[in-house]
Amino acid sequence: MIIAIDGPVAAGKGTLARRLAAALGYAYLDTGAIYRAVAARLLREGHDPEDEEAAERIARSLRMEDLNAPELRREDVGEAASKVARIGNVRRVLLDFQRNFAAHPPDGAPGAVLDGRDIGTVVCPDADLKIFITASPEIRARRRYEELRARGEAADEATVLADLRRRDERDSNRADAPLRPADDAHLLDTSNLDIETAFRAIREIVTRHCGHWPGQAG
Ligand code: CDP
Repeated sequence: MIIAIDGPVAAGKGTLARRLAAALGYAYLDTGAIYRAVAARLLREGHDPEDEEAAERIARSLRMEDLNAPELRREDVGEAASKVARIGNVRRVLLDFQRNFAAHPPDGAPGAVLDGRDIGTVVCPDADLKIFITASPEIRARRRYEELRARGEAADEATVLADLRRRDERDSNRADAPLRPADDAHLLDTSNLDIETAFRAIREIVTRHCGHWPGQAG
């Protein structure tokens, strides 16, 4: 069973996808972390995030443990990741890694939840269930701003909103695998939902889609 969760910056998909995977006993892959990991290494090695050759080389040598570096959550790394994500050769190199995870979830898990921008459209177009999570730009900026503050990072809400709009635009208008809902995706707008209510809505979508709750737990 493969569940694809896509959506724009800070729509809540990471938190919801992680919780869904835990509740179902499935493996979870944050595909944004893959682009962030390539971007973080490019920055650390002093390259421009638009250096296609260096980005492709780094993407080829990426390891699973690179996805856990704490610096991945930094705003400048997210910004660089959306530039790296426009490079077609980088996307192609990373495709196998993602498809392999979905087809063979680690630790013998009976299913996988992947979240990103193009899971339902490109990475796993045959996923059993696709959910597209969104929220208004203002609400998403507020959430990201609060997340940054909670981590003790200096942030200004207007700047966070401007950065988020720029990244949405870059993700939606790139030639290769742009951000868009798959035709058969369930849409969930979390603008007026807190995380508990949104998670309940996701559980309902899964239960309705499968005819029953497919997990062991809960
Ligand atoms: O957490 P947030 O929504 O800020 O971003 P993320 O999911 O960590 O993704 C970082 C960047 O990676 C995005 O802005 C996209 O440009 C890119 N990305 C992508 O192109 N395809 C994916 N499947 C996942 C992320």
